[in-house]
Amino acid sequence: MKSKIRYKILEIIDDNLRKEYLNAINNVYKHGRFILGPEIDELEENLSEITKRKHCITVSNGTMSLIISLLAMKKKYPNKREVILPSYGWIASAQAIIQAGLIPVFADITNQLFIDTKTTKELINDSTLGIMIVDFSGRIGSNIYELVKLSEHYNIPIIEDCAQAFGAWNSSNNNKVFYSAGSIGEVSCLSINPMKTLASHGEGGAILTDDDIVASFARRFRYQGMEGGEIKEFGINARMETLQASITLVNLSKYEQIIDKKRSIAKFYDEKLSKYVETPKEDKLEQHTFFSYQILTKERDNLKFFLEERNIESQIQHYPLMPHSKPFKNCKTSTLFNAIEISSSSLCLPCHENLSQDEIITITNEVENFFKNKD
Ligand SMILES: Cc1ncc(COP(=O)(O)O)c(C=O)c1O
Repeated sequence: MKSKIRYKILEIIDDNLRKEYLNAINNVYKHGRFILGPEIDELEENLSEITKRKHCITVSNGTMSLIISLLAMKKKYPNKREVILPSYGWIASAQAIIQAGLIPVFADITNQLFIDTKTTKELINDSTLGIMIVDFSGRIGSNIYELVKLSEHYNIPIIEDCAQAFGAWNSSNNNKVFYSAGSIGEVSCLSINPMKTLASHGEGGAILTDDDIVASFARRFRYQGMEGGEIKEFGINARMETLQASITLVNLSKYEQIIDKKRSIAKFYDEKLSKYVETPKEDKLEQHTFFSYQILTKERDNLKFFLEERNIESQIQHYPLMPHSKPFKNCKTSTLFNAIEISSSSLCLPCHENLSQDEIITITNEVENFFKNKD
C-alpha cells in the first residue's frame, strides 16, 4: 500500500531549511532578548512595508490580534456594539468579537467563501460598529470593492481578518482597484501560526493599521498597558516571542515560493477536476493563496470516505457554521442560504508545498475514479 498522502506536513523535512531555523534561533540565544527583541522590530518593519501599512504590532496569536483591534474600535466608537461577519469560517473570528465585549451578527457568503454584500447591507443598523471581512481560504473576494463602498457609505469601519491570507490580492472587481491582504479597512489582523502561509513554529499574530491611535493602543495593550515605562491603562500580556519572530523572518523570505507552488497545484486540480466538482477557480486579476483548496460537491461525505480508504487525507472545514455552533445559536443572522449549502458540500484537498507530483496526480486520479464509478 502507498504511504499516506497527508493534508499538511508540519515536520521540517528539508535539512537546509532546518539549518536556517537553527541559525535564526542561535542568533536569539546570542543576544538573549527573548521578549521584544530585535527580531520583533525587524518582523514588524517588514510586515508594515509589505502591506504598506504605517504600523505593525506583533502579538501572541491571531485571535489576540482580533481582540485587541476590536477593543481599539470599541474605544473609538463607544456607542456601537454589533460587528457583522461571515457565517462560514473559523470560530476565532466570532469568539474575538465576544471576548471584546461586542455582539457578532452573521451574514451570508458568496461562492468565493467571502462575506456577501447584500446580506451585510441588510444587517446594518445604528448599532453597527464594524464589518469584519474574513479573507477565508486565503482569498479576497471580488466583491471587496462593493464592501468598501458600503462601509464608506454608512461610515462603518472594515476590520480585516486576514489570518489565512498573507500574500493574497484582488483587483478583479469591476473598478480594478487593488486590494491586498493586510491593507484593507481600518485595521487588519494576521495569524502567524504553523498552519499559515506565513508561519512561526508556535503562536504569533500581527495588527496592521494606518491609525496612530489604534496602533498606540495595541502597543500598550499587549504589554499590560505600559507606555514609556509607565502603566497608562488596563492591558494584558499578549506579546509575540522573539524566538517565533526569528523563525517567521526565515519564512518571510520564502512565502512567495510557497504561494506559487500552491497556485500551481490548484491550477492542476482545476484542470482535472472542474468537470466533476466546483473548484475554487482563480480569477486572472487576483492572487488566491490557497490556505485551503476547497471543492464543492453534493457527494462530499462519500468522497471523503473514498479518499480515506485510499490513504488520502482531506478535511471538512468548518462544519457547522459559526452561528449554528452551541455558544452562538442565539445570535442574529441574515438568511444564510449560500453558507448552509456550501458548508455541507465543501471538502478541502491537500494543497501544500511538500506535495510531490506523484501525490498530486494520485489525488486527481482518485477523485476522478470516484466520480466515474459512482453510478
Ligand atoms: C480566519 C481566522 N481567523 C482567526 C484565526 C485565529 O488565529 P490564531 O490561531 O493564530 O489565534 C484563524 C486561525 O486559524 C483563522 O483561520
